[in-house]
Amino acid sequence: MSANTPDHTFTNHFVSDRAAGLWLSGIKEMAMLSARIDGAASLAWGVPSFATPEYISNGVIAQLKNDNDIGKYALPDGLDELKQLVARKHKVDTGISVDADKHVMISAGNMQGMHSLLRVITNPDDEIILTDPCFASHIQQVNMCDGKPVYWPLDEGNSWSLDIDALSGLISGKTKAIIINSPSNPTGKIFSRENLLRIGEMAKAHDFMILIDDPYSHFTYEHKDKFFNLASVVDLFENIAYLYSFSKAYAMSGWRLGYIILPAWLKKQVIKIHDLNMVCTPRVSQSAGITALSGDAHHLAEYEAAFRNRRELICQRLDTVSHVFEYIKPEGAYYVFPRILVPHNNARDFCLELLHKAKVTLTPGSAFGPSGEAHVRMAYCVSEDTINLAFDRLEAYFGRG
Ligand SMILES: Cc1ncc(COP(=O)(O)O)c(C=O)c1O
Repeated sequence: MSANTPDHTFTNHFVSDRAAGLWLSGIKEMAMLSARIDGAASLAWGVPSFATPEYISNGVIAQLKNDNDIGKYALPDGLDELKQLVARKHKVDTGISVDADKHVMISAGNMQGMHSLLRVITNPDDEIILTDPCFASHIQQVNMCDGKPVYWPLDEGNSWSLDIDALSGLISGKTKAIIINSPSNPTGKIFSRENLLRIGEMAKAHDFMILIDDPYSHFTYEHKDKFFNLASVVDLFENIAYLYSFSKAYAMSGWRLGYIILPAWLKKQVIKIHDLNMVCTPRVSQSAGITALSGDAHHLAEYEAAFRNRRELICQRLDTVSHVFEYIKPEGAYYVFPRILVPHNNARDFCLELLHKAKVTLTPGSAFGPSGEAHVRMAYCVSEDTINLAFDRLEAYFGRG
């Protein structure tokens, strides 16, 4: 099984055509291969290096000791206290008041939330528009729901901007939704307010949903003013599902926690899928979310400062191998998506060679859509030591530029 290759070679008749037609995310494939190579320096997976903030872990420890219900199911849409805190956060973030019961759904992270949403809205062959490149798993999630990914190439020549004039040509009678992720994985691009508003206008005009996948809005560095949350537009409320993840901003990727703000009619459908899928988001993780949202999130400034330094570091180190990689400085999130300048067969082979010969783990750009070929993704949420080790090895392998 390999990234970007449907697993049709596996002919066991128990395996459905749908499952055989999927492939493992290139991010996870590289992370798994890397785990087998002793001492590999991995920039492959976007897992922040930080431990979950102590105030959150301590809150959960106290809860485990004192709350008899902590080990029990929660209602499928989540604990009331957490839903209320989420509604309060959404009001602060967007200015929009939502009803915790009608419009808030607690998920086990954005991946699970997106799966539930796509399951609800997608009939076979319905089209979901994805930026190209986009987050690798969105492609496979659409495929898993029997939908059709429609790629909307980003404009690399214009620092990975949305090519807004091209969008209308991609919309058809089968368009059900567009997925937007800004700041973006894998490019680090923050899409402009103007372009996002144009997407909103088109969603209204052509009656499709906008699924906003937001793990990275806290990481916008010197571009704070550029970031715009389309979920703050009241008129678009019925056309938007906004997914927020605790994985990155709260260093809680293993807790599996997120939430969705969505129209009431959609929540009614999503609850069914969520229940069938996992009954409820683990209650212990919801308890962590309550502690997280009850505090002042003072760790966020520290995380952002660390990522800002790491971004400077990785850009400096990329400059020393400018004969190997050409990059656009990322605006937000914590990824950089350089183009490979040296001769190579394809991005995946390039990454496999680097892993086995230089002990450096990168994710092949092709995992993020057709436009990602000839690129690699580097995650700079890892420690400075790991970034330095990876680039010392890249310099040793390719020589300095
Ligand atoms: C764009 C995007 N969406 C979703 C996820 C997964 O988020 P979660 O851990 O909340 O499922 C990631 C993780 O890297 C991501 O980058």
